[in-house]
Amino acid sequence: MRRDRQCGEVRGSDIGSTITIAGWVFRRRDHGGLIFIDLRDRSGICQVVFSPDVSGDAHENAHDLRAEYVIAVTGEVRKRPEGTENPGLPTGLVELYVRELEVLNEAAPLPYSMEEAAEAGEALRLKHRYLDLRRPEMQQNMITRHRVTKLMRDYLDERGFLEIETPMLTKSTPEGARDYLVPSRLNPGFFYALPQSPQLFKQILMVAGLEKYFQIVKCFRDEDLRADRQPEFTQIDLEMSFVDRDDVMELIEGMVKKLFKGVLDVDIEIPFRRLSYQDSMERFGNDKPDMRFGMELKDMADLAAKGTFKVFLDALQSGGLVKAIKGKGMAGISRKDIDLLTQEAQSYGAKGLAWIKVKNGFESPIAKFFPEDVLKAMAERLDAGDGDMMLFVADRPKVTFDVLSRLRLELGRRLNLIQPGYCFVWITDFPLLEWDEDEGRFQAMHHPFTSPLDGDVTRMLDGDLTDRKLLGSLTAKAYDIVLNGFEIGGGSIRIHNQKVQRRMFELLNIPEEDARTKFGFLLDALQYGAPPHGGLALGLDRLVMLMVGATSIRDVIAFPKTQKAFCMMSGAPSVVEPKQLKELHIKTDVVTEEKN
Ligand code: AMO
Ligand code: AMP
Repeated sequence: MRRDRQCGEVRGSDIGSTITIAGWVFRRRDHGGLIFIDLRDRSGICQVVFSPDVSGDAHENAHDLRAEYVIAVTGEVRKRPEGTENPGLPTGLVELYVRELEVLNEAAPLPYSMEEAAEAGEALRLKHRYLDLRRPEMQQNMITRHRVTKLMRDYLDERGFLEIETPMLTKSTPEGARDYLVPSRLNPGFFYALPQSPQLFKQILMVAGLEKYFQIVKCFRDEDLRADRQPEFTQIDLEMSFVDRDDVMELIEGMVKKLFKGVLDVDIEIPFRRLSYQDSMERFGNDKPDMRFGMELKDMADLAAKGTFKVFLDALQSGGLVKAIKGKGMAGISRKDIDLLTQEAQSYGAKGLAWIKVKNGFESPIAKFFPEDVLKAMAERLDAGDGDMMLFVADRPKVTFDVLSRLRLELGRRLNLIQPGYCFVWITDFPLLEWDEDEGRFQAMHHPFTSPLDGDVTRMLDGDLTDRKLLGSLTAKAYDIVLNGFEIGGGSIRIHNQKVQRRMFELLNIPEEDARTKFGFLLDALQYGAPPHGGLALGLDRLVMLMVGATSIRDVIAFPKTQKAFCMMSGAPSVVEPKQLKELHIKTDVVTEEKN
């Protein structure tokens, strides 16, 4: 049997004609005389009816149909009887009366019913991913993802970008995560690294004069996983020559606008807001602010200094911060809830959570440490009125920002302050270098190929290597794109001058020899006429997750891995034959058991 239509395409205009459709048995209702089946394929659902009046055989055989059997049916399309139409369904006006039924395949009893699939445990869904992906919601996610990449390809193609592949078996790239390694059989004892990104290759394509490159590319990072992180994920990676920051940002804004219009029919306002890294930290406590609501962090150091609360004074004394947020309408909460909130703050790393309720004056165990006018000034700064509560954290800057930014998000959610919609923002002017306490040296904030601001190049080249203050104040030509509190992309203008690049390695305390072994090919390339260049990579999975309103990138990846980087369906990673290890000259001392 050959299909004439997809299930979801049958319409009133088909009434009276005889057609064939095929798909999976979704719901089945046996009304004795008549058997109804919702037949489902990717396009949707069509109601098919088995009646003994039309075909005794088909009706008889329909009794044996079970969930997810694959069938093809031929019959006449009829208008549904008055009162039985389903206006919620595009095919809801019609039904197909089956003259011929062909069972194309049977299905074993399902591990969970398709209708309850969304509630089935995620482990079970991932194990039977083929069933999970049959669900209309999941199919819609895959369709959206396809449309996003299709529109991006078109957009970049129209602007002269070339899609160029770069190797998967390559050398380590410094994006800051652990590498996935692949042993080389032909070179015993040597390893490839799977790329954390195509960073070095795309820069070399610029040196090679390709001018505009893009790639929709898998990247591999062995890091701790979260809802928005997978060990392998996809980037829309791009690079351009003869550009500065604004060129890259404008290109991306145009692309995002086109995407949201084309895929979601949503108008996005461009240009996006821009916020410096410094401002973002001060106002939101992190560099990926969700700006769909206010509740900004306010600095309270000057006012805290006017009181006698030891916790605050000690924090300030030791170079820390005192910052606060407003809990709108929270003055009514109980002591027990305050204790819970304090525990929450502590789980984020705080030592405690100080609070002042604004409630016919000020109510708080710490109110006594402050003169009335200082309490008033605090409330004014936070715009806290009667019924609100002020929440304070005093600590090292990192802890203060971290705790308050997380509390802000959590409370914003609970208090229903987050407006629906899409709020894009560029974070710019990142520091070039970030001090790593554990290692006692600077790390690149973005990656070591990121250029300092033009005005900072001389300071970078001539500055004293031990001057932490000076080095910490260098600013990078880097930018992140943030959507609703998620970093969906990042990039920078690169260093195209070999001298500056060498200096960067020096500042990062990477010995000349190491730099040569790891990035020698880039350093070489930079001496043969490298044009100024820069680019960016968007995290496709995160972008699509936000576009479809999912809460995990696993829902927009066909075959994702678990928190333990395990594929529930295929069972990867798995043990391999001793012979394979021998060929690779690899011995392991771990006793492995098959996982499942
Ligand atoms: P970066 O490391 O910021 O930049 O990565 C770019 C974007 O990729 C997404 N992303 C991830 N998504 C899912 N799972 C992960 N484990 C994961 N890690 C990152 C994020 C992030 O913003 N080479 C540079 C780009 C450049 O400079 O042009 C790079 O890889 O959305
Ligand atoms: P204590 O002096 O430890 O009894 O704390 C008094 C109040 O200050 C309690 O509400 C604590 O939760 C809070 N607190 C303690 N340490 C801090 C801190 N580092 N930042 C903000 N509040 C704190």
